[in-house]
Amino acid sequence: MRKLRFGIMASGRGSNAEAILQACREGKLQAEGALVVSNNPDAGVHEVAARFDAASQTIARPDFPDGGSFAETLIGAFRDAGVELILLAGYMRKVPPALLREYRGAVLNIHPALLPRHGGKGMYGIHVHEDVLRERDRETGVTVHYVDEEYDRGPILLQKGGVDVRADDTPEALAERVLELEHRAYPEAVALWMEKHRSIV
Ligand code: GRF
Repeated sequence: MRKLRFGIMASGRGSNAEAILQACREGKLQAEGALVVSNNPDAGVHEVAARFDAASQTIARPDFPDGGSFAETLIGAFRDAGVELILLAGYMRKVPPALLREYRGAVLNIHPALLPRHGGKGMYGIHVHEDVLRERDRETGVTVHYVDEEYDRGPILLQKGGVDVRADDTPEALAERVLELEHRAYPEAVALWMEKHRSIV
């Protein structure tokens, strides 16, 4: 079967991007990273892309006169790269609605908690794990969901729990254990998406 061409949008170090690209390299995913886009030229994800021979670009909203031309540039870059599925992996900016319309059902995000708990505006990065501790949850995990116009509200594709919250946990320690699970869950979710959608893409 022809390999799926996916794009990644990330703002930071890119460990999830790396886990997915590694799964492709190992032949666990019949897919290839066609383009990595970041809003930040200094993001670690560019180095990750280079190590895996994947193209990467910086496309940032402030460099464009208006939201429309930003969205058009993003869509054009993904289309030119033949991207069929877009994976948000620590992308800290709003995704333009026009991109979501163009790639309807084909934009996924990973969230480091069991949605719908600990999701929504302001729930990103370490804040998510702080909230889990504040709420005294006994278990946490990860969610891969379809992206729509509202933060963390799209339908869930894959959810994995089983990360115990310990009495002496810190947000950082919890984040680290959840991240390990993210690295296993995201490639699995991509495989699941391919099973579900591939025939119609
Ligand atoms: C991950 O925890 C992800 O769930 C969240 O942002 C973090 C990105 O980490 N949305 P990395 O850049 O993939 O290492």
